[in-house]
Amino acid sequence: MKEQLLAKFAEVFGDAEGAKVFFAPGRVNLIGEHTDYNGGHVFPCALTIGTYGVARKRKDQTLRFYSMNFEQLGMLTSSVVGLKPEKEADWTNYPKGVMWAFGEKGFTVDCGMDLLLFGNIPNGSGLSSSASVEVLTGAILRDFFGFEVSNQDLALIGQFSENRFNGVNCGIMDQFAIAMGKKDHAIFLDTADLSFEYAPISLQGAKIVIACSNKKRGLGDSKYNERRSECEEALAQLQKELPIKALGELTEAQFEEHSALIEREVCRRRAKHAVYENQRTLKAVAALKANNIEEFGHLMNASHVSLRDDYEVTGVELDTLVEEAWKVDGVIGSRMTGAGFGGCTVSIVKDESIEKFKEVVGSAYEKKIGYAADFYVVEIGDGPVEL
Ligand code: GLA
Repeated sequence: MKEQLLAKFAEVFGDAEGAKVFFAPGRVNLIGEHTDYNGGHVFPCALTIGTYGVARKRKDQTLRFYSMNFEQLGMLTSSVVGLKPEKEADWTNYPKGVMWAFGEKGFTVDCGMDLLLFGNIPNGSGLSSSASVEVLTGAILRDFFGFEVSNQDLALIGQFSENRFNGVNCGIMDQFAIAMGKKDHAIFLDTADLSFEYAPISLQGAKIVIACSNKKRGLGDSKYNERRSECEEALAQLQKELPIKALGELTEAQFEEHSALIEREVCRRRAKHAVYENQRTLKAVAALKANNIEEFGHLMNASHVSLRDDYEVTGVELDTLVEEAWKVDGVIGSRMTGAGFGGCTVSIVKDESIEKFKEVVGSAYEKKIGYAADFYVVEIGDGPVEL
């Protein structure tokens, strides 16, 4: 892989003298969806698939970008001076956003670079290809400029760039899962204070299977920001009586007792999801620790129902993948993962049922939706590295 990437870099940029190769993973969230901007818990893990980057510092202030995933765009060029988001800059707004964010945090990127990317996570699939590019860029800048930042800082800078440069009010989950990834472990993160714990994932004869709906989405064009403001509206109304900072502080019973304070029915449902999903995440991690994988699966299923009915971020593609999965013997749990509106589902499937799962869910999906889904049996990997 490394040799091929360096060869491609040389083909695109003339030679590969002094170029270094880095990797940052993608992520999948096992449970705890749309809780990270509500001060709740999440339970994601980094994957062994992700984004490779070959980079070389330049002496001038020019930035030259090339993505093997968007070869039709060719080489995109700009300057490290006066960084601002531009529509025609396309995917390069992600690495440029991170360079800008480092500058805002007092770490000046004062010379340009050549950067070639290759991602083996499907783009726009909900496995965080953009957060992967952000953390990758951060790891490259840290190495090239000697910035003293931790992996957790890389996550925060990545999120800051996505919020402020790319206009998506995402929470911290994706960048954190990627920057802090650990092989064979999921990350039980409390987004209220960023305290976290690594939980070993041993699935006792089962694997994590991702089904990609191939319905493309980008957070920017989804209703992500709208969901976030609906939660904020609900919180503000609850705060009239409750001394809370975030929906994640409430138990189900406390929520039910005060939910009438929320004026709009739609906001009440959004807040209900945030509260119950956070509690489900706590229960799921406890079930996993008790080796009760069946219970973990039931909670995943309940998470999907709540995302479908109360949060309304699923859609016919994700619902079909999940509802067909639930019918297959050997499926321990299945739900949508990530922001929703398209993208992927995550299922825990017993080893002996994986082939049948792909066949049955795949053909039912194609019949109903009109195009095929893709399936990936994934492994949990580490955070960013230089290869
Ligand atoms: C996207 C965002 C995350 C999180 C999820 C939903 O992936 O980037 O911060 O909010 O959606 O759980």
